[in-house]
Amino acid sequence: MTVDELAPSQQAPLDEQRLMGFVFGAVAEVGATLNTALVVMGDRLGYYRAMVDEGPLTPAELAEITQTGEKYAREWLNAQAAGGYVSYDPGTGTYKLPAEQAVALTDASSPAYLPGLFQLAFGAVRDADRIIELARSGDGLGWHEHNSDVHAGCERFFRPGYLANLVDSWLPALDGVVDKLQRGARVADIGCGFGASTVLMATAFPRSVFSGSDYHDRSITTARQRAAAAGVDHSITFETASATGFSGGEYDLVTTFDALHDMGDPVGAARHVHDALAPDGTWMIVEPFAGDQVQDNLNPVGRVYYGFSTLLCTPASLSQDVGLALGTQAGPARIRDVTVAAGFSKFRIAASTPFNHVFEVRK
Ligand SMILES: C[S@@+](CC[C@H](N)C(=O)[O-])C[C@H]1O[C@@H](n2cnc3c(N)ncnc32)[C@H](O)[C@@H]1O
Repeated sequence: MTVDELAPSQQAPLDEQRLMGFVFGAVAEVGATLNTALVVMGDRLGYYRAMVDEGPLTPAELAEITQTGEKYAREWLNAQAAGGYVSYDPGTGTYKLPAEQAVALTDASSPAYLPGLFQLAFGAVRDADRIIELARSGDGLGWHEHNSDVHAGCERFFRPGYLANLVDSWLPALDGVVDKLQRGARVADIGCGFGASTVLMATAFPRSVFSGSDYHDRSITTARQRAAAAGVDHSITFETASATGFSGGEYDLVTTFDALHDMGDPVGAARHVHDALAPDGTWMIVEPFAGDQVQDNLNPVGRVYYGFSTLLCTPASLSQDVGLALGTQAGPARIRDVTVAAGFSKFRIAASTPFNHVFEVRK
């Protein structure tokens, strides 16, 4: 007889303290879940921006500045105060956005900027109904089939990290790549989404030429607009193309930012990169930070990535041919296996941040 088959009266007594500890922890998580929508609300309605610009405010003042309903502003402020996002002064009835929260919630140039992460989570959860049904059959849902908060949130989440790291530390960590870029190199950025990485590289290396590609046509339309707005459209061409079929060859550098694990056929993509690279070219693969074993990733960052993997990345890969579904937490060893299967012989971790691994791959 197993423990499960025992009548409740025969089982070990419940530890009431542990039970209530778990329940209160879960209540905090429901508060955090609701806060995903509340942060998007504060971002979209300009509540955070107004608190930075105007200092401590009453609900009536916040509502007036943002041209919104006072009772919504009041309840939103109270929820934010309960979560530690703003502070409340009972003496004056005002709410204040502390300096650190102001940076994290309003400064898009800071690596600590959070609204993109919340927008991405908000978009992912909104499509979760479809994912729950698809999980029954094991079928996938393409990146292009998600609501636009997923696409826009993704760019806003990743861009600050690229701004902080790409030109100053990730590219210099690759052997000889910055020299080539400064002299004038041919670069392909595959699975480029809105082209945040492509535009940053083109801005930093005006003698190089860039070719951005993604299978999602609406992302490519936005990428073209971003390049034009940044004044680098003369050195970038964008195309709608799968990673197994992007055009051009003899590239000095191919880059893949947080996209390899989303692809149905990463080995096929890796073979195409192998063919398209110059003999001494470099493939830079940026992937979410992860260890090789499940137990290495059972931490807060891994939890977020496994969540996105379940709701976005795994369904994206399953929706395509092959459907390998590496997942966001594949880890260096499985990414290396993909490159070896495609004929590459050199693989190393060139750089890491708490959120990303940067791999250098060569023939
Ligand atoms: C998580 S997003 C990252 C986008 C962009 N690289 C960034 O860092 O902001 C993954 C991207 O991979 C693209 N993608 C997925 N499968 C693809 C494939 N087979 N070929 C090309 N792009 C693909 C998606 O359309 C999406 O833009």
